[in-house]
Amino acid sequence: MRWNALEPGMKETMLKLLEGTAKWPLYLHGSAGSGKTCALRLLVALVSRSKYDTFHDFLVTLREYGSGKFSDANELTIWNRYRKDFDLTVIDEVGSRTPSDFQYETMCRLLDAREDKPFVVASNLTLMELSKLYDDRVSSRCGAGTVYKMAAGDRRF
Ligand SMILES: Nc1ncnc2c1ncn2[C@@H]1O[C@H](COP(=O)(O)OP(=O)(O)OP(=O)(O)O)[C@@H](O)[C@H]1O
Ligand SMILES: [Mg+2]
Repeated sequence: MRWNALEPGMKETMLKLLEGTAKWPLYLHGSAGSGKTCALRLLVALVSRSKYDTFHDFLVTLREYGSGKFSDANELTIWNRYRKDFDLTVIDEVGSRTPSDFQYETMCRLLDAREDKPFVVASNLTLMELSKLYDDRVSSRCGAGTVYKMAAGDRRF
């Protein structure tokens, strides 16, 4: 998708975040098919040292590194990298199912690792719904910066 196809409010929010006049993190929400992932792919392409993951992918990576599969890297390597090596990180598809304790802890850890750094959490849930699924510690951190709701409905139809 092209930058020009992006809805104006999203474009404006992204530019403000990138120029430093809006506060991170960005909590991006909207219904299924409203264009969140496409918008985030465009944002990630604008920042050189950026990382996009779905929450599921991030959990899989953590497990892989935690399993001892790599002789020179472990779970801590991922956390250190996540904290220091990226100018922007994105976690998409948060809240698509009830979190296990491990998933809950990982979400809190992600939010703390990226505190005061460029970070996006994207979800189909409003902050209120996220608070019910996780708790107010998670929703409070997600909502501490900029909150944007995609204006469009489902674009897949
Ligand atoms: N600004 C846009 N203009 C036109 N089509 C768009 C736009 N943004 C996204 N689309 C199209 O809409 C569809 C859904 O987009 P996308 O996957 O980004 O939505 P999503 O909000 O991430 O959905 P989900 O919640 O299911 O993950 C895609 O087929 C994409 O090509
Ligand atoms: Mg998506």
